[in-house]
Amino acid sequence: MSVKITWYSHACLLIETDGTRLLVDPFITGNPMAPISADQAAADFILVSHGHGDHVGDTVAIAKRTGATVVSNFEIHNWLTAQGVENCHPQHIGGGFDYAWGRVKLTIAHHGSALPDGTYGGNPCGFLFYIQGKKIYHACDTGLFYDMKLIGEEGIDLAVLPIGDNFTMGPDDSLRAVKLIQPKQVLPIHYNTFDIIKQDPVVWKSRVEKETGARVALLKPGESLTL
Ligand code: NI
Ligand code: MN
Repeated sequence: MSVKITWYSHACLLIETDGTRLLVDPFITGNPMAPISADQAAADFILVSHGHGDHVGDTVAIAKRTGATVVSNFEIHNWLTAQGVENCHPQHIGGGFDYAWGRVKLTIAHHGSALPDGTYGGNPCGFLFYIQGKKIYHACDTGLFYDMKLIGEEGIDLAVLPIGDNFTMGPDDSLRAVKLIQPKQVLPIHYNTFDIIKQDPVVWKSRVEKETGARVALLKPGESLTL
């Protein structure tokens, strides 16, 4: 059994495992780097890390079209329910849940979470997935925090880390994050979507691979890796 991860640019991932499709932070409409349209997005589950528009994105439309179950914090769950999304599963930071496809735990993230209409979106989160014996940590939007070391103690196969700077960790802090987490592999995200988060991922890859034991997977939007 393998886990296939496709990067749709920004923080949006499609995780496919044993026929189940998990779509994370589906910011597709209005995303200049998105390789698909929102109409083409397939999902059995959608996971939303926080309320910002570049993460909630097309969640409501895709959930209504596909019937996907949306996993988010309780505040975003309430907002989605009010938008008419029928299948929602609330979790919160520190809490994990065993789904048929595997487990996901919500982790801390240092960021904001207001929803697009100004509704309070609770605290932002990251995701720690346990799927087919693999551990995937998607940090989502966050600054560097020392407790990433605790997440790393789980033994992370793939860390998905923002490197864009300005709104999240930049290249220097995400390199420090790799040192704290010590994952086998890293996928940099949340860069080059807009001019203010422009970064050179090739330079970052060489720094990480020189200073840590992690391999860096550089994907173009729409490309995949398999664990
Ligand atoms: Ni954000
Ligand atoms: Mn963001």
